[in-house]
Amino acid sequence: MAIHIRNATERDLPRIIEIEQLAFPAPWTLASFQRELTLPFSRIMVALPAPSGQIAGFLCRWLIADECHILNIAVHPDSRRLGIGTVLLAEAINEAKSTGANVVTLEVRRSNLAARQLYRKFDFEERRLRRHYYGPGEDAIIMELRFD
Ligand SMILES: CC(C)(COP(=O)(O)OP(=O)(O)OC[C@H]1O[C@@H](n2cnc3c(N)ncnc32)[C@H](O)[C@@H]1OP(=O)(O)O)[C@@H](O)C(=O)NCCC(=O)NCCS
Repeated sequence: MAIHIRNATERDLPRIIEIEQLAFPAPWTLASFQRELTLPFSRIMVALPAPSGQIAGFLCRWLIADECHILNIAVHPDSRRLGIGTVLLAEAINEAKSTGANVVTLEVRRSNLAARQLYRKFDFEERRLRRHYYGPGEDAIIMELRFD
């Protein structure tokens, strides 16, 4: 399946929020996505199964100095396990490499085995644990992919 990636615009936010709300127990608000669109170091990219298709997933990253930080990635439940998360993550990693960054970082719930598996496929390493970061019993794992 051909998956097209482009930068998000304000008009994409209703669909992005729909996917966000299906993906997370404490979803980002419209205001948080709007803010990301104004930040020069932030990029929200969207994935469409074809150039004219509907958005099936998105990723938000910050690129600051030599570090790319992935803040958010989600794929619509109807479009999972089709490689869309892989394409989004590959785009963020390739962009980071090509701009001279030397590390990609992210945080993931310890219980989120699907996401942890996806990151492991890209050779992310589990570096540290932040206990109860997402609430009682919900630890965060800090993952890192270094290029050097
Ligand atoms: C995590 C997420 C983005 C993956 O998106 P996706 O498009 O389904 O991922 P892909 O199809 O590219 O899967 C790539 C690999 O990740 C792993 N993976 C993905 N979903 C998985 C699952 N449910 N169980 C186990 N492994 C899984 C597999 O290794 C998979 O490769 P395979 O299909 O060849 O076995 C998606 O499940 C999602 O939106 N989850 C809710 C939001 C979320 O948790 N985001 C991450 C926050 S840190």
